[in-house]
Amino acid sequence: MQTEGAAQLDGKGRSVYDVRPAGPNTSDWQVAIDDYHRYEEDLDLMQAMHMNMYRLQISWSRVVPDGDGEFNQAGIAFYDRLIDACIARGITPMVCLYHFDMPLALAKKYNGFMSRHTVDAFVRFGQAMIAHFHDRVKYWLVFNEHNLYFTDEVFNISGYLKGEKTLPEMYQIFHHTMLAHARLDAFVHQTYPDVKIGGMLAYTPIYPQDADPKTIFAARQLDEFLNNNLNSAYVNGHYSPEVWRYIKRAGLQFDWQPDDAKVLAQQHADFIAFSYYRSAVVDATKIPDGTPVNRYLAHSFEENSFVPQTEWGWAIDPLGLRNVITKLYDQYQVPVFPVENGIGIHETWDGKHPIDDTARIDYHRAHIQAMQAAMFEDGAEVLGYLGWGLIDIPSSHADMEKRYGAVYVNRGNHDLRDLRRVPKKSFYWFQQVFGSNGEKL
Ligand code: BG6
Repeated sequence: MQTEGAAQLDGKGRSVYDVRPAGPNTSDWQVAIDDYHRYEEDLDLMQAMHMNMYRLQISWSRVVPDGDGEFNQAGIAFYDRLIDACIARGITPMVCLYHFDMPLALAKKYNGFMSRHTVDAFVRFGQAMIAHFHDRVKYWLVFNEHNLYFTDEVFNISGYLKGEKTLPEMYQIFHHTMLAHARLDAFVHQTYPDVKIGGMLAYTPIYPQDADPKTIFAARQLDEFLNNNLNSAYVNGHYSPEVWRYIKRAGLQFDWQPDDAKVLAQQHADFIAFSYYRSAVVDATKIPDGTPVNRYLAHSFEENSFVPQTEWGWAIDPLGLRNVITKLYDQYQVPVFPVENGIGIHETWDGKHPIDDTARIDYHRAHIQAMQAAMFEDGAEVLGYLGWGLIDIPSSHADMEKRYGAVYVNRGNHDLRDLRRVPKKSFYWFQQVFGSNGEKL
């Protein structure tokens, strides 16, 4: 939904994003960057940048307008065109099946993933897409940033529009989505042995504020709940013992069916994917007693004086990326894949010259170097490196002025202008980096 636009075209149903109104500093989601009509031009730019992989999302409500009814052939035809156009340019497509945009009809009728009906509908959609595209798409992700469904953000992004934000509801949505993930993982491995499927989370490494053992404990515990718990399910087929014990101790009641453990046990991810933007710091003394572990960051998210920050206060921490890659590979022994990495910057275009985004170049260079150290010094197996939003798109909170691209898109939050694509200075730098497979940094 951050690229395509065409929110009402060719039979697309509405998703929860399509009905979000614009605010003073945010846009709506109707046009995005109009990639639905301009994908040939956008792929030409990616090809010119020497990108050899592109991660895209198949929008559920474009393909199944009400989420669980008839398939929309015009929607599938769009993804046929898009994927063929990638391949024609030597760009390997990676497909993600869900990027927070629940079909509105399922959100209204079933409260989204609160219901097993929605899990079945999603698995039906996912299986149909994998069956249709498996000959051309060999890399699949199921849920974007799956661990965010385990934080308060879940109520903004899961399509669950009603409710009290209770802890059992949060765990219910998390469990239901993990079942859907496991079923699609098993489907792929049983049906298409040459196709790879992985889990994907927002990996924010958690640092303790100081050496107080209470803070060390809180940081470790939060990492277990937010990160390891999912990876354990993807790779080992069961939740983290510590999280499971917590669910029991806290008496969290949610729908757990007798066969669920078997369903979870069927999965074995081919790789672990994640987004990496920043690290975070916790201070145990700021977390009120009794706070559920997955909400620690809501109470304590300290500034890290050792690293600079972006304009949005996100810590710029390349060594954190090396830590994450090496830790994940050492712990799970499956290839790892950073599939989002980048920096948001406010930028204005003078209408003539390429934007000088040296800060973006510095950010990506340092992170690619950190990844190389994880690979060549620490021995991690890494499948690739995907930057986030290498053509400007509205940020996940719909702010078009938080730009990530190597290509400027000429639109603002409310003023669509001409949507022209204009390469920035980093475009030419990426050309050289991707063209030399990371040699010329
Ligand atoms: C991740 C998402 O949260 O990070 C993207 O998968 C999002 O949807 C990106 O855009 C960057 O975050 P933001 O809020 O700066 O756009």
